[in-house]
Amino acid sequence: MRRDVKDDLFKLMTQMASSIEEVNETVELRQINENDKEYENDIRFLYELLQQRDSTINISHKTIPSFYDHSNFWKSKPYKFASMIEYNGTKVGYTYVSHANEIGIFIDKQYQGKEIGTKTIQILIQKFKGEPLFANINPLNLKSRALFIKLRFKHIQNTYRIN
Ligand SMILES: CC(C)(COP(=O)(O)OP(=O)(O)OC[C@H]1O[C@@H](n2cnc3c(N)ncnc32)[C@H](O)[C@@H]1OP(=O)(O)O)[C@@H](O)C(=O)NCCC(=O)NCCS
Repeated sequence: MRRDVKDDLFKLMTQMASSIEEVNETVELRQINENDKEYENDIRFLYELLQQRDSTINISHKTIPSFYDHSNFWKSKPYKFASMIEYNGTKVGYTYVSHANEIGIFIDKQYQGKEIGTKTIQILIQKFKGEPLFANINPLNLKSRALFIKLRFKHIQNTYRIN
């Protein structure tokens, strides 16, 4: 076979393979549940994610809790809805909706920028249809702001803090 034909064929096959991959990409929310056999692993993964937080993400938490406090926090069922985010079956982050309908979302650094955040928020909007949802975003967190604005959230207030 001629070399240029061979190259074209290879290119075509690569494109086909990547489009099949795209079609198969799934983002699923699996609720964090103490009775789930994955629960202990989920809590450990959530603790690992905590270490990735920086000052542009944190609004309310300034220090990392001990693992003991972290476990107890999750045991207390602090949110109205809380789930792991799974991307093609792999745990990549978590999201929650608080009792005041505020959204929290955190995706592992190596999986950011793959539209997982977009798909997750779209799932939440669908799930909480008819209820307001809020996002408290640090003004330095441009990525998060872009995500919520893209999904038609409106800027409604600025919050100030001392101490
Ligand atoms: C913020 C976060 C949830 C976004 O999720 P994501 O999967 O990385 O984002 P997506 O790939 O769905 O992209 C969503 C939008 O964010 C913006 N965005 C994505 N990557 C960006 C980057 N590197 N710089 C600036 N904006 C970016 C774009 O507007 C993008 O939409 P577009 O690609 O259609 O233009 C995720 O990056 C994250 O968990 N960050 C750390 C924790 C955090 O900041 N949580 C939010 C607290 S309110």
